[in-house]
Amino acid sequence: MSNSPVTVLGLGAMGKALATAFVTNGHPTTVWNRTPEKAAPLVALGAMRADDVAGAAAAGELVVVCLLDYDSVYQALAPATDALKGRTLVNLTNGTPRQAREMAGWAAAHGISYLDGGIMAIPPGIGTDQAFVLYSGPGGVFEAHRPALERLGAAHFAGEDPGLAALYDIALLSGMYGLFSGVLHALALVNSQEGASVTGFAPMLGEWIGAMAGSIPHHARQIESGDYTQGVVSGIGMQAAAFDNLLHTAEDQGIRPVLFTALRDLMKRRVADGHGAEDISGLVELLRG
Ligand SMILES: NC(=O)c1ccc[n+]([C@@H]2O[C@H](COP(=O)([O-])OP(=O)(O)OC[C@H]3O[C@@H](n4cnc5c(N)ncnc54)[C@H](OP(=O)(O)O)[C@@H]3O)[C@@H](O)[C@H]2O)c1
Repeated sequence: MSNSPVTVLGLGAMGKALATAFVTNGHPTTVWNRTPEKAAPLVALGAMRADDVAGAAAAGELVVVCLLDYDSVYQALAPATDALKGRTLVNLTNGTPRQAREMAGWAAAHGISYLDGGIMAIPPGIGTDQAFVLYSGPGGVFEAHRPALERLGAAHFAGEDPGLAALYDIALLSGMYGLFSGVLHALALVNSQEGASVTGFAPMLGEWIGAMAGSIPHHARQIESGDYTQGVVSGIGMQAAAFDNLLHTAEDQGIRPVLFTALRDLMKRRVADGHGAEDISGLVELLRG
């Protein structure tokens, strides 16, 4: 299985990286891209170029697709459903859990085995230990293709529900954008002050965020149990009072606190509802519905 033939549909920045990882690891690799010229560097590495999706799908049991969005995947695959029948389609295009489940249904209706996936890497990370990829769908199908899929990065199986990989992917990206919001606000704040050094401050910020990330399992346990009263060391009442200082400082420094006002409002509401002595993780109660 380690040198099983693989087809890659889509040679954008990510598809090109995926195909490169397969071909440089010795998998007979067939590629297709809507704009055929983009196949040239892969052909130079030893890949075969197919003229159409049906021809590409016929080349191997494992077909990996990575296009811009789900609409483009449907568009590209529609003329090739006969060739895809009996194949395993691994869709690494970014999408929502609902889109993943719908595409799993579409694949089943055409006799295609389907895994949905979420790539947690940028193209230069593919094929290195910087990358991991989430997969969901039938466990047996995942296990059968795991050796080939491991070429792209660590392969994590999220579960049989085809929407789970997309759910974890979107949740991880949500954490990342929350992080970026805080980082950008913090750097803007320091940069607003004459005599303060943003580049000098940056390592301290990284260290602080790393230390705070240690609380993630604690919050996860509280959210899973629905009990926000255990192991509280910094109650949300105290945090809400100090949070006003973040907004006032931003305003004094000429920085718009737009990324933080929603969080302040939720904290105040949670405290007003009588949960001031509990942990901040109780805010999830206000995010529901
Ligand atoms: N790049 C990243 O850092 C990254 C990281 C994680 C996940 N992803 C996800 O990976 C997927 C691909 O990203 P990318 O960076 O490769 O994007 P990209 O460089 O913009 O490439 C887009 C690909 O989709 C193809 N395409 C677009 N519309 C199409 C259509 N209607 N029919 C057929 N092919 C179509 C393009 O073909 P042409 O060459 O003919 O235009 C190209 O192969 C996206 O879902 C993205 O969210 C990307």
